[in-house]
Amino acid sequence: MAPDTPNPSPEVLSLEQPVPPAKVSLLSATKAFATYKGIVEALQPVTMEVREGEFLVLVGPSGCGKSTLLNLIAGFEFPTGGMVLVDGKTVSGPGFDRMVMFQEHALFPWLNVIDNVIFGLKRKKRLSSSDRREVARYYLNLVHLGKFETAYIHELSGGMKQRVALARALAPNPRILLMDEPFGGLDALTRERLYGQAQEIFARTRKTIVFVTHNVREAACLGDRVLIFTSRPGRIKREITINLPRPRGFYDPNVSRFAGQILAELKTELAEEEGVESHESSSHGHPVLPVADYFLADGI
Ligand SMILES: Nc1ncnc2c1ncn2[C@@H]1O[C@H](COP(=O)(O)OP(=O)(O)O)[C@@H](O)[C@H]1O
Ligand SMILES: [Mg+2]
Repeated sequence: MAPDTPNPSPEVLSLEQPVPPAKVSLLSATKAFATYKGIVEALQPVTMEVREGEFLVLVGPSGCGKSTLLNLIAGFEFPTGGMVLVDGKTVSGPGFDRMVMFQEHALFPWLNVIDNVIFGLKRKKRLSSSDRREVARYYLNLVHLGKFETAYIHELSGGMKQRVALARALAPNPRILLMDEPFGGLDALTRERLYGQAQEIFARTRKTIVFVTHNVREAACLGDRVLIFTSRPGRIKREITINLPRPRGFYDPNVSRFAGQILAELKTELAEEEGVESHESSSHGHPVLPVADYFLADGI
């Protein structure tokens, strides 16, 4: 609860009891785009399930269809074949139950911080304007930006902008959060600082999350499960369950071990794509990689 809201409205009180998280299913979902050069097959049949309250991470080579898959769940795109379901119902378009956060914060520079968050609540017709402000304040406090509500976007650092974007995505209290490389544009130090906060926020809000990243350590640090995709047209190549307790330290040796496994899969995929064999492997079948190598996948 925001410390400066002594008489919270029922809407704000209800934020303390999050709505039940949703389940997402893809059943042999495919996506092809018609372009002037011909048909671009973005996704091969993908069958997967995101469990209620799960943090699922998607990794894969650039252009393998990760954003396309998020867009199918968001309802911005529709599958060419197969089905995309939320709670057993076919996704028929965007909705407040699913919010998307992109690499670019997409905040409005002409609005201050709190008005950017309030903007995300515009379609919540039953909220009065003071309720909207109260809800926005609640989420700004959650992302530790309560003191910056009247600041303008250009006055904020990159990490702060992404936290405003997160507050804006959380404010309508969606059941599903779709995050497309949300920390990808930030420098390494800012990102590392955000992981702790992000884990705390996700634990408190208990959303069902589908998160795309290029960073294998980020995948291992945040995910309950990681799906590794092949090159385009993307299909699921491997699934890795990260059964580590939370909160997880970014440089925890167990996180490093899982990051190494994910990177090994990605490297094999890229090697197969280029027709080269991958030779790095330890006696356990997983490659032994220096720390710096984990970030190689940043540029894939
Ligand atoms: N609207 C579109 N029209 C045509 N081709 C598209 C469109 N969106 C994506 N693609 C193509 O589909 C493939 C997958 O893209 P995308 O999902 O953005 O990959 P990723 O997010 O994994 O990098 C790419 O080859 C991309 O060029
Ligand atoms: Mg993408």
